[in-house]
Amino acid sequence: MSAPNSDYDPVEVTPLHPDEIARVTSEALQAVTAATTLAELKQVRIDHTGDRSPLALANREIGALPPQARKEAGQRIGQARGEVAQALATRTEELEAVESAARLLAETVDVTLPTDREVVGARHPITTIQELVADVFVAMGWEVAEGPEVEAEWLNFDAMNLGPDHPARTMQDTFWVASSGAAADGPGAQDSGKVLRTHTSPVQARSMLTRTPPIYVVCPGRVYRTDEADATHMPVFHQVEGLAIDEGLSMAHLKGTLDHFARAIYGDTMTTRFRPSYFPFTEPSAEVDLLCYVCHNEPSAVASCRTCGGEGWIEWGGCGVVNPRVLVACGVDPERYSGFAFGMGLDRTVTSRYDIADLRDLWDGDVRFTEPFGVGL
Ligand code: DAH
Repeated sequence: MSAPNSDYDPVEVTPLHPDEIARVTSEALQAVTAATTLAELKQVRIDHTGDRSPLALANREIGALPPQARKEAGQRIGQARGEVAQALATRTEELEAVESAARLLAETVDVTLPTDREVVGARHPITTIQELVADVFVAMGWEVAEGPEVEAEWLNFDAMNLGPDHPARTMQDTFWVASSGAAADGPGAQDSGKVLRTHTSPVQARSMLTRTPPIYVVCPGRVYRTDEADATHMPVFHQVEGLAIDEGLSMAHLKGTLDHFARAIYGDTMTTRFRPSYFPFTEPSAEVDLLCYVCHNEPSAVASCRTCGGEGWIEWGGCGVVNPRVLVACGVDPERYSGFAFGMGLDRTVTSRYDIADLRDLWDGDVRFTEPFGVGL
């Protein structure tokens, strides 16, 4: 900075000379225009408005002027600095817009592209157990059979030796399909001759009517009864039916088959127990229980076992030697052939196997329920 000097002519002080100010100003403005990035502009700002810039240095010279000259010089410098500051602000805005547009372009995401982050979901345990059961029997050479869920009353009941007066035929248990025009609960409601099948047993009749012995079929499927939904009952549930018709089949073959079935599902230490029972379609009939897979009926554990309620055994299903009346109704010669049949509830098999307290969980369709069962095939 020059020393104060009363004879000083501001025009003669080089940095404050109008031409010099015009020159450095235009240099600054050119530099601002020439900057093509915000980083370059930052450097221009430092070079042309920073402490060591020509305009800042000129500004400092004002103090060296005689007081009467300071105003004009100050105005000139102030105007020049204002012009440069304004140009910088405008260019900053322009470059910010350019750079933000470039960034948006670079970061463009095509939201329509497929992504690999979809939730995979899981298979429902009822589906898995149906397939597992089918696999066990197919491995023994059995066939998987199917039947409709809207079933002929005759196949659901009569063919299975459930006569017209059997309690299972009453409105209490059976969903009747109303004939067209009849109210579901009014007169004629049962006249259609069709029901929602109350068990998978009609598939036995269908199999015998469409095949010639030997017959070995297994049929997992959905069945319906007029139960209120609660933790242990559902109006829709699942069973697996089995039927074997051949020469010389006996209760012993049935026991061996069910023991194998139980071991395939529950492991090699599993065994079954038969209790005498009654079913119209089998004679003799039995209820089949599984050894409790938690306490194994061990004397030290069975009394306090919550899974089997201290029984040591868990109800699994019904079975027996096919009643000759059923064979006759389905066109099979009872003199030549005999057979055995069984039917198990699959929902209880799943709920007891996985400790599911409420049957309704199987129906909620909540993926959080199915996820722990995984996607195993
Ligand atoms: N259908 C019977 C039910 O729903 C179960 C059953 C019992 C099936 C004995 C059979 C059988 O094949 O032999 O309760």
